Amino acid sequence: MSNAYDLAYERSLKDPEGFWGEAAQDLVWEKPWSKVLDDSNKPFYRWFTGGMVNTCYNAVDRHVEEGRGDQAAIIYDSPVTGIIRRISYAELRDQVARFAGLLAAQGVAKGDRVIIYMPMVPEALVAMLASARLGAVHSVVFGGFAANELATRIADAKPKVVVSASCGIEGSKVIAYKPLLDEAIRLSSHKPERCIIYQRPQALAELQPGRDLDWKTEAAKAPPHACVPVAATDPLYILYTSGTTGQPKGVVRDNGGHMVALKWTMKHIYNVKPGEVYWAASDVGWVVGHSYIVYAPLLHGCTTVVYEGKPVGTPDAGAFWRVIAQHRVRTLFTAPTAFRAIKREDPKAEMLARYDLSSFEQLFLAGERSDPDTLAWAEQHLKVPVIDHWWQTETGWAIAANCMGLHPFPVKHGSPTKVVPGWDVQVLDDAHQPAKPGQVGSLVVKLPLPPGTLATLWNADQRFLDSYLAEFPGYYKTGDAGYLDEDGYVYVMARTDDIINVAGHRLSTGAMEEVLASHPDVAECAVIGVADQLKGQLPLGFLVLKAGVDKPHDQVVKEAVQLVRERIGPVAAFKTCTVVNRLPKTRSGKILRGTMQKIADHQDFKMPATIDDPTILPEIEEALSQIGYAKARENSPV
Ligand code: COA
Ligand code: AMP
Repeated sequence: MSNAYDLAYERSLKDPEGFWGEAAQDLVWEKPWSKVLDDSNKPFYRWFTGGMVNTCYNAVDRHVEEGRGDQAAIIYDSPVTGIIRRISYAELRDQVARFAGLLAAQGVAKGDRVIIYMPMVPEALVAMLASARLGAVHSVVFGGFAANELATRIADAKPKVVVSASCGIEGSKVIAYKPLLDEAIRLSSHKPERCIIYQRPQALAELQPGRDLDWKTEAAKAPPHACVPVAATDPLYILYTSGTTGQPKGVVRDNGGHMVALKWTMKHIYNVKPGEVYWAASDVGWVVGHSYIVYAPLLHGCTTVVYEGKPVGTPDAGAFWRVIAQHRVRTLFTAPTAFRAIKREDPKAEMLARYDLSSFEQLFLAGERSDPDTLAWAEQHLKVPVIDHWWQTETGWAIAANCMGLHPFPVKHGSPTKVVPGWDVQVLDDAHQPAKPGQVGSLVVKLPLPPGTLATLWNADQRFLDSYLAEFPGYYKTGDAGYLDEDGYVYVMARTDDIINVAGHRLSTGAMEEVLASHPDVAECAVIGVADQLKGQLPLGFLVLKAGVDKPHDQVVKEAVQLVRERIGPVAAFKTCTVVNRLPKTRSGKILRGTMQKIADHQDFKMPATIDDPTILPEIEEALSQIGYAKARENSPV
């Protein structure tokens, strides 16, 4: 007999216009759409063509008008500063309207870009929503990226204004953001006209006269600005994510489809009701932050928690339980790495006994594979459903999940459960033929993608086609390999490209190789992702030095590590690197990174038939054991 999930799934594929057209009724439209799914320019599909909307209106003003003005929209909980602040929907509307007024006074209008480089403070959300209010396009850059990465994004997005803060606080460290911003603007070919700086007392920034404005002084004077209706198909934001080169991909999200999809997920995937407290413990710089700290909970009239802290060390492994208890959180969404960190410090979850977790009903995990050990640990101690779900920056919301608001299925550890309505996921083998149940292949999605997914890449339609649609015509390539089992459960096994996932942060080993190759002493290099008990994966570098370099190897390694930190940022967690005489390659010269990774992870591997010189492999093994790496691995399988 069919259940609510089966019915929804079937309808979403057979009648996408009816399915999503109905979901769209939950939002307020300035002007209704003329076409739900516009396929007039395949493969660039568009949703809700002809419709006019404002995302900020639906996320903020609407709730004030409908009686939620006094309800907390945001709870800011910052153990690193000792501040807990509650911002009601009415207060949020006023702050956003004023900040939109300030942006407008700097010339920001519909379609202009605004780069936001902020720590986890409510003002980051205010800036995003204010940009949406004006119909401008925001691009949030994660604070853990270095000046060079910020510069690349400024050059590509060409923002009129950059919004930033004087500093971020990482555990006990205060990280001054302003010098990074100044350096990024110096490096970038595009110069923004204005920078608006939110001063924090932990490190005040020096403002550059004529270019920089003080947030608080200017916002206090700014007249509130009304919501500007935009086309449903107009861009709401650009979010840069790692590609296979140093040039990140600017994922473009529209306004209309994005709102419809996210609002639908709150009820049907997360089973959340308006008014509830929803906490995504991530960062606004990542897609999880965009979708589930900011837009989805606010579109749904929930209270969202903005947490400026870590799962451990701020002050201890009970931090998450304290936040849940204090703010009566019902749903928590985070990355498995956060739970691995808690489990490592408090293996018996003894801290839990200190807190009243009676409000807490469900935990969602995503961003990387959930290892069954961690999942079982969370289930055992929290005694609530623990739901792994699979998605990507590009998709904006879950491709596979246990849809708690439709029909919860029994969990199979290692699987993010079933394909979510709206997605036609298939597994294709090397010959592009459908794989059998249980057979690993490329995970692809038959076009059109549902609403809320990437419309294109910013200023790079051709790269969008080449990266996602060219290899499997008629399908979107997720870049993940995996399989579907006999019951239709999805298993996501590995990336098919050079993307690695470090503490839930998506990074490109190719981008790290580009940085290492620029070191004057390096002739050749390779970076691989190796298993790590805490972060899931960690990057590991191999350097071949140029002939005649007589510097001590330790010195080159130190410089190489520093170079990656300076160019990509601390978030890359690139700390281990070794010098080797040569790299294993195929006869056509391709570096055998997969084989090196298997050696580092102590996995069995077959000698590649195409290897040029098999005698190099023992050298690699020896180099790894010399940096104590092989030994560490034995103790820490994931
Ligand atoms: N601004 C500046 N620097 C930042 C930063 C930010 N927003 N975020 C991270 N960094 C820095 C860290 O300080 C650290 O620097 P270090 O090398 O000087 O120590 C480095 O980047 C790596 O950070 P991180 O990966 O967060 O490692 P960590 O050791 O500080 O913490 C965890 C490990 C598991 C506790 C942490 O990664 C975590 O809480 N993860 C939760 C999951 C998550 O948020 N995932 C995001 C996607 S859902
Ligand atoms: P990001 O774009 O940073 O969200 O990273 C997306 C990638 O993270 C995916 O392509 C997967 O490789 C991985 N990922 C995200 N969620 C999961 C999950 N639940 N299980 C396995 N891998 C995941």
